[in-house]
Parts: sequence; C-alpha cells; structure tokens
Amino acid sequence: MKSRLSVNINKVALLRNSRKGNYPNLYQYAKDCEEFGAEGITVHPRPDERHIRYSDIPVLMEQTTTEFNIEGNPTKEFLKLVLKHKPDQCTLVPDDPTALTSDHGWDTIKNKSFLQEVCSELKTHGIRVSLFLDPDLKMLENVSDIGAERIELYTGEYAKFQDLDQQKFLEELGKHKQVASEAMKVGIGVNAGHDLNLKNLKLYADSIPNLLEVSIGHALTVDALYYGLKNTIGMYKRLLS
Ligand code: PXP
Repeated sequence: MKSRLSVNINKVALLRNSRKGNYPNLYQYAKDCEEFGAEGITVHPRPDERHIRYSDIPVLMEQTTTEFNIEGNPTKEFLKLVLKHKPDQCTLVPDDPTALTSDHGWDTIKNKSFLQEVCSELKTHGIRVSLFLDPDLKMLENVSDIGAERIELYTGEYAKFQDLDQQKFLEELGKHKQVASEAMKVGIGVNAGHDLNLKNLKLYADSIPNLLEVSIGHALTVDALYYGLKNTIGMYKRLLS
C-alpha cells in the first residue's frame, strides 16, 4: 500500500508572518504542493497564530483540492473553527499553547470522556477524527471507545534516535510496528508524523505496512530550500511508493 503525503505548510506561514503582507504567498504554495504531487495539506493553527492564522483556513480550503487536515488542541476556539469549515480530517493534538511544537500524544485514559465528546461532535459533522498518539499499546486500547477512525503516531522519538542510538531507534520502530498492527486488527487507520525526513522515512514506511498517511512539514520545507519544492515532493513521494 502506498502512503499518502500530506504537506504541513506551517513553516511557510511562519516565513510569511515575519514580514507584513502575503509573501511568500501561502495559498499559492499550498496549490503548488498539490500540483507537484502532495495528496493532502495540513495546517496546525495555534492560539497565538504565529504561523497559520485562523483567517487562512477558509482561503486555503477554497483553493486546495486534496485532503485538508486541520490539527491542534481541541480548545473551544479551535473546535469552533473546525466545525465552521469542516475539513476532511481533524487531528487532535494535546499540545500546550506555549509549546514550541507538539511532542507527545494523548493520554487516552485520563482524557477518555473529553475525547469521546469531541470526537462525536466532529463525526456528526462528517469530519474524520485522528488522535495523535505515542506508540503505546495502552493508549491505543481506548481509541475504539473514543470513536476516532484514525491515530497519528508521533514519530519524534523515532527520528530523534536515528543518528544517536541505533538500538533505541530500532526499538522505537518496533513499538510503532506493534501499535500499527494492533490498530489494523481493530479497524483503526494509521497516520504518522513529526520529524520525518528524507533519511528516516523509507524505513518507517516500509516497516509500517498499513500506514495511510504521513504529514511532513519542517524537513520538507528545509529540503525545498536546497532541492526546490517540485523535486523535494517527488523525493518524498518516491520514498513512500
Ligand atoms: N503531526 C503533528 C501533530 C504536528 O504537530 C506536526 C508539527 O506541526 C507534524 C505532524 C509535522 O511535523 P514536522 O514539521 O516535524 O514534519
């Protein structure tokens, strides 16, 4: 199975926000990503709007044609935004408002009833729900009861160990394989993301046979500086095929 590539465009929004105006043009960038082969666009609006602004969402959704994924912490404001615009997928992430970037998945035991409520509301509006999760079987156990159709496995630890410690790197990959295969048995789809890059993506995608989608932002944006956007998207897609 070929996993889909969803490009996270936050970093380009960050660059735009470093000056006034719309340069680089975030909306054109999203369209170009699609033209060059991206199968989805991901945005992660944060409360301080330091990269994606809430006002970007309707424009992006109107101009893009592939799967639109909004990720973030389901605060009241975030849910209002998601329910108003109804993306194809909403990835729920337990990130602190002050966090530099998301760095862990949900505790699905402590947050079970809250996540059940959020999930049910999103699903009523036809939005697929994915839960950001560490590769931990205990955390997977509640996902069916919560009602999410997918999980997004947090690959930050996997990526962290790639050059540091080969044994831990492979152990981490083993945890991902195990959780992904259990998820498949109970009919939950598997996405993955965070710190995936040209060096670690192929092994990951080859090891997780039921990987539906990866969302990649930081490394892909940096690679595009060196190789150009079209080449870069092609390079990532080849690793997924
Ligand atoms: N998935 C989630 C939930 C994220 O928060 C992020 C970063 O915004 C990503 C995936 C993409 O991570 P990266 O930018 O490291 O590719």
